[in-house]
Amino acid sequence: MDISALQKARYSYKPKLPAALSGPVDNITVELGAPTESIANQEELRALFTHSYGKPIASFKAGKNERIHERLKAGVILSGGQAPGGHNVIAGLYDGLKKGNPDSMLYGFLGGPSGLTDNKALLFTDAIIDEYRNTGGFDIVGSGRTKIETPEQFAAALDTAKKLELNAIVIIGGDDSNTNAALLAEYFAAHGSDTRIIGCPKTIDGDLKNEYIETSFGFDTACKTYSELIGNLEKDANSAKKYWHFIRLMGRAASHIALECALQTQPNVCLISEEVEAKKLSLKQVVDQICDSIVRRAKNGDNYGIVLIPEGLVEFIPEMKTLIRELNDSIAGDLEFFSKLTSFTEQLRWLGGYVSAESHKLLESLPQDIARQFLLDRDPHGNVQVSRIETEKLLAGMVETRLAELAENKQYAGKFSSYTHFFGYEGRCAFPSNFDADYCYSLGYSAFVLIASGLTGYLSSVRNLTAPADQWIAGGVPLTMMMNMEQRHGSQKPVIRKALVELDGEPFKAFASARDVWAVKTSFLFPGAIQYFGPPEVCDQTTKTLLLEHKA
Ligand code: FBP
Repeated sequence: MDISALQKARYSYKPKLPAALSGPVDNITVELGAPTESIANQEELRALFTHSYGKPIASFKAGKNERIHERLKAGVILSGGQAPGGHNVIAGLYDGLKKGNPDSMLYGFLGGPSGLTDNKALLFTDAIIDEYRNTGGFDIVGSGRTKIETPEQFAAALDTAKKLELNAIVIIGGDDSNTNAALLAEYFAAHGSDTRIIGCPKTIDGDLKNEYIETSFGFDTACKTYSELIGNLEKDANSAKKYWHFIRLMGRAASHIALECALQTQPNVCLISEEVEAKKLSLKQVVDQICDSIVRRAKNGDNYGIVLIPEGLVEFIPEMKTLIRELNDSIAGDLEFFSKLTSFTEQLRWLGGYVSAESHKLLESLPQDIARQFLLDRDPHGNVQVSRIETEKLLAGMVETRLAELAENKQYAGKFSSYTHFFGYEGRCAFPSNFDADYCYSLGYSAFVLIASGLTGYLSSVRNLTAPADQWIAGGVPLTMMMNMEQRHGSQKPVIRKALVELDGEPFKAFASARDVWAVKTSFLFPGAIQYFGPPEVCDQTTKTLLLEHKA
């Protein structure tokens, strides 16, 4: 197979490790702290996780570890959306296992969690791992979104673990997949299995974080990739001076990606869903906010600019949120009948009998191709797939209409011409930045130490991430510690809490203090492409989000 010059060069990159993990493998021991509590609903969670609740925080330090040379068999799963660095988690885990004992083995489950329930796995060799070191993508074994939830699926997972004689399963995933990891750890323990379950924090969305998980891997590379593209559009807009670019950015619910990209590129407008929800802004108010920047810039003769839109925005605008909820309920209520309706007119007529008059009116008022996107197939959890709703087109269209009204009233005399973009899949499989390459390798290596130390029900954790890698602090956080009870599909479920953008957090405050200037005065920043070789301040710097959060 042909490989690019960069891929070849990246094969020889040696990821940096925290000092506690970089010495001889038999000089890494685990220190356990005091028992922990979940972030909320302690009573309910203690009752649900009788075998795995309240474990202590684990940290690594130099010292003898009697168990580190045990011959181990482990399996690893890549779960959910791709995120740059996944291959390095596997490489770190593999290298750790082999350093512990050259006869240890690592299986990769094919196609995500279903590989575990269906017992479809690939035994990794040095040659396979070497081919994927420091590369993007999850193509080493593929990923999937199957949720392990039925008693049959749990039993099948245990059956696979028994058949393959696994000492451990590592689940690389986001909040939902790690909630699954917690449930599996409990199930396995309750069934007398000593197969250990360890999670690793993955998602470009950046919404799996807390006091002990400073960031999920992939966020760094994805944001840098999008920021490069946004910077390029800013340069183009600043050169041609004739287009407004409306750019939607991936990130499902949370706006961390949009916020980080705004900090990196200083656009004219960046919407933050969490703020829109807190201020209860209507769709019209959101459109007015964008128009305000356009009108003010036009007065200075600047008929161009950049608008960033988080992917999940529609779910945070109150009237849209109601519409989506009512659509989800109605469609789920009679999915079979709904899926038989072939035309939009038929679907709209049918929905008239189920959704509220306001929602029906709103749906009818949307451009038809956008309205149809609200009715597309739901994801396996019954939710609308926000990455398929072209909010950037909806907003660009509404802005154009509003500007025409303003022009008629002599409140706007500029020229408006727009382009729309969606940056999502472009960022999920980039070659991991040095930060993600190092962070992921460390997470995988930490997962090995947790397994070798006999621990289960933990999320691999590497902290102090704004310091040089040798000062990073590695260990494990009990999964139940990050959980609370939430209403999901009509009942209370134990879940790892999703971290949304905090409006009193430093990243948002830094953005909010500068955005009024950016809205009018061209203040674009051009981060350029991710650099893999060169001085540390260019190559190893992590996100502004992390730097600002650490400043606090
Ligand atoms: P994860 O939460 O699984 O990491 O996936 C994140 C994400 O990239 C979202 O940003 C996006 O909305 C979604 O996946 C797209 O899903 P799919 O890959 O199924 O199209």
